[in-house]
Amino acid sequence: MKILSEATRKNLETRNPTPHNIPAAPPLSNYMDLNIPLDPFPVGLSPMDDITDLPFRQLCKEFGASYLITEFIASEALNRDAEKSLRKMRFTDGQRPLGIQIFGADEDELLRCLEVVEKAEPDFIDINWGCPVRKVAGKGAGSGILQDIPKMLRITSALVRHTELPVTVKTRLAYSADTTPVTDFAEALQDCGIAALAIHGRTKSQMYSGQADWTMIGRVKANPRIHIPIFGNGDITTAAQAVEYKERYGVDGILVGRAAIGNPWIFEQCRRALEGLGEREVGIAERVEVCRRHLRMAVDFKGERTAVFEMRKHYGSYFKGIANFKPHRLALCAATSAADVEKILDGITDLKEPGTAW
Ligand SMILES: Cc1cc2nc3c(=O)[nH]c(=O)nc-3n(C[C@H](O)[C@H](O)[C@H](O)COP(=O)(O)O)c2cc1C
Repeated sequence: MKILSEATRKNLETRNPTPHNIPAAPPLSNYMDLNIPLDPFPVGLSPMDDITDLPFRQLCKEFGASYLITEFIASEALNRDAEKSLRKMRFTDGQRPLGIQIFGADEDELLRCLEVVEKAEPDFIDINWGCPVRKVAGKGAGSGILQDIPKMLRITSALVRHTELPVTVKTRLAYSADTTPVTDFAEALQDCGIAALAIHGRTKSQMYSGQADWTMIGRVKANPRIHIPIFGNGDITTAAQAVEYKERYGVDGILVGRAAIGNPWIFEQCRRALEGLGEREVGIAERVEVCRRHLRMAVDFKGERTAVFEMRKHYGSYFKGIANFKPHRLALCAATSAADVEKILDGITDLKEPGTAW
């Protein structure tokens, strides 16, 4: 699948005027194609702060993620050359197609950071208009901007116009149940010239509570004036569900977030299910080996101390469902050196597979 095809471009030329009071769309010459060959039904890795770093993305890629997005990166931090933020942009060529996700509330900061982001040469830039956490949304960035749709459109449009790279947006259903919903502003975002739109099926007010509601995502996709790809996101935990949601909501692709933590195999299972194949059993030995590689790549990428500490949030998921795993998890989380973690991993190979009767 190509995002924004020639037909799409033609559509843009004849697009209907938006019903919203929004800034004028940029001239068509500034619209960019993502121009990336993607799978027929792409299942991408949803960006996650402190999770979707280079080593984790590498594993997701190897297990079949159709495309990758970095953790969100503050425009303001990029503009002051903050080392940690610059590191978040790093990726290998093997990880393409890859998007760098930026966030911020200040138009000038966001525009200024484009130069820094472009130097990293990602395939596209993703704008985060969805983060609900207080320190982001409270300052009007992330989903905070959903209280001011004209500002969101103005900044999105400016970003599209000021970069040669394709720009995509990831957002939520609305700020809250009583504010403008994505079904009302998706077209206007499209008119800003974005190449694709990913929608997480919750409002900002919901944070991560309840179940993601995909009906509105389906409605955006069903809008005949929408021609950019619509990616659905929220609560996909199994490959069977990915197939079911593809059929039921008609989206062009899916982003998987939390279900990939400690489980990069979700992408392989999704691909298999989309091809009509059954799940592949992933045994303990394979989980141990992938977890070990994850640790080693993390040590290489951010140093032993940080890697050992940050890997703690992955162990529970890598070995989910394995009987009598708790003492091992506690030991993994207490270990302070990579060598100690590896020793504990060696001892896990003898445990029973998930679902094995004792
Ligand atoms: C720990 C964590 C960090 C996240 N960080 C980001 C982020 O940096 N950018 C973003 O757009 N969404 C972020 N999200 C939201 C996810 O990308 C995704 O939209 C959300 O978790 C719903 O999808 P899921 O149910 O597949 O996880 C984060 C979610 C979690 C749990």
